[in-house]
Amino acid sequence: MEFPISLFVFLFISTLYINVHATEIFSGTENGATPDGKIDCSQAFLSTWEKACKVDGGTVLVPSGTYLVKSALFEGPCNGQTVFNVIGTLKATPASSIGVESWIEFSHVNGLVMIGKGVFDGQGASTWSRSVNCKAAGSFSCSNRPSSVKLKFVTNSSIKDVTSMNSKMFHFHLNNCDDVTMNRVSILAPEDSPNTDGIHVGASNNVQLSNLNIATGDDCISLGPGSTNINISDVTCGPGHGISIGSLGKYPNEKNVVGITIRNTTLSKTNNGLRIKTWAPSPPSTVSDVTFQDIILNDVDNPIIIDQQYCPHNRCNHQGDSKVQIKSVKFINIKGSSSCLVGVNVVCSKSMPCQDIEFSGLDITMHGSGQPTTASCSNVKGNFLSNVVPTSCS
Ligand SMILES: *[C@@H]1O[C@H](CO)[C@@H](O)[C@H](O)[C@H]1NC(C)=O
Ligand SMILES: *[C@@H]1O[C@H](CO)[C@@H](O)[C@H](O)[C@H]1NC(C)=O
Ligand SMILES: *[C@@H]1O[C@H](CO)[C@@H](O)[C@H](O)[C@H]1NC(C)=O
Repeated sequence: MEFPISLFVFLFISTLYINVHATEIFSGTENGATPDGKIDCSQAFLSTWEKACKVDGGTVLVPSGTYLVKSALFEGPCNGQTVFNVIGTLKATPASSIGVESWIEFSHVNGLVMIGKGVFDGQGASTWSRSVNCKAAGSFSCSNRPSSVKLKFVTNSSIKDVTSMNSKMFHFHLNNCDDVTMNRVSILAPEDSPNTDGIHVGASNNVQLSNLNIATGDDCISLGPGSTNINISDVTCGPGHGISIGSLGKYPNEKNVVGITIRNTTLSKTNNGLRIKTWAPSPPSTVSDVTFQDIILNDVDNPIIIDQQYCPHNRCNHQGDSKVQIKSVKFINIKGSSSCLVGVNVVCSKSMPCQDIEFSGLDITMHGSGQPTTASCSNVKGNFLSNVVPTSCS
C-alpha cells in the first residue's frame, strides 16, 4: 500500500507549492540589518527587498529581534511572487515618517505574500495628542501622520498572521488595490488614540478581510470611495468606532461604493456599530448592495447608523443635502445590546432619500435593562421584516 501514501505526499507537496512558490530567502540580517532596535535598518531591508524582488518567489526575511526602520518604500514591479516573512518586530521611531503618507509602503507589487507572526510597531503614542482632530480637519488628507502599512497599487496579494500596533494614523491602508486578502491579522492601539483606524480601504476592488482581531481608537474598518466587492467576515472589533462605510462625499467625482458584505462579526463596546456616513452637502455618488449579516453587539453605542448629515466639528454649515444615493442595504440578524435607547438611527438625504433599506432578524435591546431599543428614521423607506426589535421606524 505504498502507492496511496506517496500519492498523498505528492499532493501535499504540490499543494504547498501552489500557494507559495519554491523560494529563495534573503535575510535582512545577512544584508546589514541589526536586531538591536537602535540602528536604522531601513536601507538594509530595502536592499534585501531589491534582491528578493528580482526572483520569482523571493523571500524577504525579517528574522526574530527588533529592527528600527525609519521608513521604507518597497516598490515593484517584481519578477513574480514576493514573500515578506515577518518573524521579528519592525519598529518605527516616534518621529519617523511624520509628514509623509506611510511608514512602510508596498507600491506597484503584484503577488505580495506577507506572512509571519511578527509585529509592525508604529510608535505612535507621542504623536497622538498633537493632532487630535486630524481626520475632521481634512479627511484622509491628514498627511502629517503616516499610516503604518500602506499598500498602493498592490494586486493579487495576501497578508496573513502579522500584528500591527500603535500606528500613528491608520494601521493598514489599502489604496488602488485589487485582489487582496487579509487573514488572521491583529491590530492593537489604545481606545483614545485618534485616527488609528484598523484597516482603511479606498479605491480598491475584490478585497477579502477575515479573522481579524481589532482593538483601536478609531474605526476598526473603514471603507472609502471606490471600494467595490469587499467581503469582511469573522472580525472581533472593540474598542473602536465600529465598521464604517465613509465618510463619503467630501470631494467631487468620488467613485461609487458597491458590493460590500460584512458577516459574522462581533462588536464590543464600540462607539458606533455599523455605519454609513456621508457629508452634507456632498456631490453625487452611490452606495449600493451592502449587506450586514450575523452581527453580535455587546454594549455598543449607535448600533445601526446611517448618517447623511455627517459634519464633525461643524466644519460645514449644512447648506444643502448630501447627493450620495444610498440604496439596497440589508441589515440581517443583528443581535445584542446597545448602550443607547435608539438602536437604529437612519438620517438620509432629503433630496436623495435612501432606497431599499431592509431590516430583518434584528434583536437589539438596551444593555443592562434588556428593554427594547427604538428606531428613528428620516427620508427613508425602511422595510422592517418579521421578528425585529426595534419593530419599526418612528
Ligand atoms: C497571482 O499570484 C499567483 C501566485 O503568485 C500567480 O501564480 C498568478 O499568476 C498571479 N495572477 C495574476 C493575475 O497576476
Ligand atoms: C464575496 O463573497 C461573495 C459571496 O459570498 C463571493 O461571490 C465573492 O466572490 C466574494 N468576493 C471576494 C472579493 O471575496
Ligand atoms: C465566526 O467568526 C468567529 C471568529 O470571529 C469564528 O471563530 C467562527 O468560526 C465564525 N463562524 C462562522 C459560522 O463562520
